[in-house]
Order: sequence, then C-alpha cells, then structure tokens
Amino acid sequence: MKVIIESKEKANKLAAEQYVKLLNSKPDCVLGLATGSTPLGLYAELIRLNKEGIISFSKCSSFNLDEYIGLDGTHDQSYRYFMNTNLFDHVDIRKDHTFVPSGSCKSDEEAALYDEAIEKAGGVDLQLLGIGHNGHIGFNEPLTPFESKTHIEKLTDSTREANKRFFASIDEVPTHAITMGIGTIMKSKIIILVAFGEDKAEIMKKTIEGKPTISVPASLLQLHTDVTVYLDPEAASLLS
Ligand code: F6R
Repeated sequence: MKVIIESKEKANKLAAEQYVKLLNSKPDCVLGLATGSTPLGLYAELIRLNKEGIISFSKCSSFNLDEYIGLDGTHDQSYRYFMNTNLFDHVDIRKDHTFVPSGSCKSDEEAALYDEAIEKAGGVDLQLLGIGHNGHIGFNEPLTPFESKTHIEKLTDSTREANKRFFASIDEVPTHAITMGIGTIMKSKIIILVAFGEDKAEIMKKTIEGKPTISVPASLLQLHTDVTVYLDPEAASLLS
C-alpha cells in the first residue's frame, strides 16, 4: 500500500491526478465510485477538471459500490441520487453508462449479476473507496468473506448510527444495503482509498499496520498490488 499524507485539498488534487492519467490514457475506462462525505472534495475537483477540458468522462462508464435496500433512485438519500447531484449532473458522463446497484434487489443471486455486468464492461480500472469506522469498504461489514461478490449486507448498528446524520431519525436509516463484495473490489486494477479526520485515525492504523483480516475489511487491501491511500494528517495521526 502506498500511503500519502497531505492536507485534504492537496490529497484531493493528487487523487484527481490519478483520474487525469487514466481518463487521458484510456478514455473508455471503467470507474468504480463511492458515496459518503469523503469523496465530495475529489468529485468537486473532477468537476472542475472536466469543465476546464482537462478530462472527459464521455467515453467512460462507472459502477458504484453500493446502495441502500428499499430506497429508489429518486430518494434524496439514495446513492443514485447522491451520484447524480454530486458528480454525474455536472460532468459529460453518459448517464446510461453509469451503474449503481439496485435498491430493489431481492437476493444475493440477483445481486451477483452486478459482478457479471462489471466483467462484461471490462472490469473496474480505478476503484475509489472511503472507509467506515469499523473498517468497512463499500458496505462490507467485518467478517464479510474475502471472496464475496456483490451481495446484500445487513448493516451494523455502528454503520447505521454513523449514517443517521443524513436521515430524520435512526429508524429511517435502512437496515440493509447491496454492496460490491470484497472479492469484487479486489478485482479492480487500481484502488484508491481516501480517509480524512481524526475519527478515522484508529481504523487507518488497523488498516495499514494491522494484520490483514476479515475483521477489518479494509486491511485486506494490503493483499492488493496497486492501492494508494490518501490521508490527511488527522487520519494519519496514529500511524507509527
Ligand atoms: C459509500 C461507501 C462507504 C463509505 C464509508 C465512509 O459508498 O461505500 O464505505 O465510504 O461509510 O463514509 P464517509 O465518507 O461518509 O465517512
């Protein structure tokens, strides 16, 4: 794992450079995208680069990591809505080339079809990840199997608690999500993980310096050959 520690602004600019490199060398690349608070600065940077004509998304396609079960794309807390409002509506990507797992998925068999769609598109070239306080990547909570494909995951109380800030109350936070599996994520050619803030310091120490274990899903990224982790000094504060 390559670890880069910079201010949030600089980290977002450096991460954006990976997109410039990829989109300019392979315009029809496949992007793996994430939601949450963390990627907002990076998405703002990608929008700026697109508006300035430095990158174009017109030939690429994208697959998002996850979606809440029970929310359709028009719900303002759905991840489809998040992606439209925070990235897709502001860049030249073709909406019909953007994929977000379906919140109406009923079974793991149905969910796994998402992996087939990713493979048919050529596989993810660059996967963006945030990280949960318990080490989840996508919504792969601790103990999710290493080989897992896209599946339905029961969200832990801590994840629902962390995400209740976006809902009127905890009761409205969905109990399940559909998420790319650890196995799906590990197949990506290049992975970027971004974490900012002191509240991510403890989990980043376990992720980077702990033994790879399914108890800390993000630590499994140590087993991937091309991962760059972008941290601000607060998120890196417990690293030795
Ligand atoms: C979102 C996702 C999650 C988030 C994680 C961190 O698509 O897959 O793993 O990246 O929960 O969320 P934030 O960035 O809000 O701290």
